[in-house]
Formats: sequence, structure tokens, C-alpha cells
Amino acid sequence: MATMTSPWVRALRSVAFDVPDLAAAERFYTTVWQLDVAAREPGALYLRGSGADHHLLALHERAGTPRIRQVTLRARSAAALESIAGATPAAGGRVASRGPAGDPAGGTALTIVDADGRRYEIVHGDARRTPAAPPPRDQPVRLAHAVLNSHRVEHSRAFLEQALGFVLADRTKIMAFMNCDADHHTLALGDTDNDALNHVAFLMPTLDAVMRGGGRMKDAGYPSQWGPGRHGPGDNAFNYFIDPFGLVIEYTAEVEQIDDTHTPRGPADWQWPPGRVDQWGIAPPPGDELKRAQRAVHFAPSL
Ligand SMILES: [Fe+2]
Repeated sequence: MATMTSPWVRALRSVAFDVPDLAAAERFYTTVWQLDVAAREPGALYLRGSGADHHLLALHERAGTPRIRQVTLRARSAAALESIAGATPAAGGRVASRGPAGDPAGGTALTIVDADGRRYEIVHGDARRTPAAPPPRDQPVRLAHAVLNSHRVEHSRAFLEQALGFVLADRTKIMAFMNCDADHHTLALGDTDNDALNHVAFLMPTLDAVMRGGGRMKDAGYPSQWGPGRHGPGDNAFNYFIDPFGLVIEYTAEVEQIDDTHTPRGPADWQWPPGRVDQWGIAPPPGDELKRAQRAVHFAPSL
């Protein structure tokens, strides 16, 4: 039996982006996407959901094409930061910085970069809030996962395993699903020809909230780019959209919860019948607009 879960990483906390217009970002993400403002700094906006995380999105104003700055993970302990820092060089990455976190959530942060420029920040002791109970019915609770493309996915996967303690949960022809806790996957690697951001998924409290979110996005001029549907690996309901800046964002719900009894399966096990790309079979495959957006947002070369 495989041991699932990372000994060092507990969860995905937040993702940070450079976007060209913070006012437009605030309008979209607080009204249509249903996040709340957690904090502001000169040139930066932090947005939260209904759960315990201080923020889920950190947005920094920068003219030009949107960029991903970093993916922030929460460590299980202070000692885990030391373990990750120690494991990173042998895994082929480098430690970019360590010390007090540079955002309003605070805590201690370690930033590591893999050989292809994917930047992971690992935090410990960051601020938490008391979750709304019951959660507002249409507000994202927390992030569910981030998917990063890789032109050499086995190399990128080895880095997640060796430097961050992630475990392969499932492998399809086009995706390596990486587990760190009870969620089936918290990161995934898209097996493709580039190192762009594929998408970021926000966990909704219910399937109905995913569906109502699809209607809200459609009304606001952001129709679904793929979905609604239900994935194979992870068993989660999904609906994908492109935000005003070109970031691919997903509403998801009902992510499979796994433990050490989970058996990873491979590409031969995860095949759809002809014409199918999800369990429900009602949505057509992703279109060209989504596919273009899923290769357009790259990591900032430095911060
Ligand atoms: Fe997803």
C-alpha cells in the first residue's frame, strides 16, 4: 500500500499573479467570482474565500501580459520548511529566499524554484481566519488545486516528490495528479510542450454552487469554456472559465478524498469511450480559446 500525503506540505494556500488592472480585477473577483477583499497594499490586492485561509489570490498590478508569480503551499510544521530547503538542491531546484513572508498573511516563508522556473512558496504560521459557518452558498471556500504545464513532466514530477514530498495519485496520458493530503490532488502537471499555468481551481461548497457560478459567469459575459462536467481522476465536478485577463479559473466541488488505501492508476486505466471527455458526457471537449489560454500565462522570471 502506498503512503499518500506529503510529510511536509498540508495544503495549497494561495496563488499570486501579476495583472494589468487591479480595479478591474477587484470588480470581477468580488462581484462575479464571489471572493472578498482580505487586504490591500500599494499595488497589490488580496482576495479570500469563506474558509480559514487569509487569502486565495494575491494580485499585483503590472502592465503587460499576466504572469504567475508563485504557488503558495502551507507547511505542516516549521521543521518542514527546513526539510524542504534541505531537499531542494538535490531535487534539481534552488532556494530563492527564506524568512518572514512578504504578504499580509505573514508567517515564515521559504521560496524554492525548480529547474524550469516554477516558483513554490511554502509558508508556516500564516494568519488564519474563522471560517464562515455555514459557508455562504455561492462563495469559494478555498483553492482546490493548481495545474502547471510541463514540457518534461516526469522531471517536474520528480521535483514535487523529492523537494515537496508530494505523491503521484493518478496518471493519465496528459496529466500527472499530485497528492499532499486528503484531496485526491492539490497540484497537477499537464504533460505538454510548455511550462505555462494551466489553471487554478476554486472549491465551491456544493455542486449547485458550481452550477450557479456557471450561470453568473455567463450573465457577466464569461461563458463556460469547458463544462459543466465531472472528471475521471479526482471525481470532481468542474466548470472552466477565462477571467478578464486571460487566466483560466475553475469552479469545482466534490473532490474525491483519499487515504493510504488509494491505488494510483495509469494512462491505460483512464481512457474515455469515443466522444467522451468526462463522466457525464454533456459538455463538448475544450475549445481552442481555452487551449490557447492554458498556454499563455507563464511564471515571472524573477520577483
Ligand atoms: Fe482542475
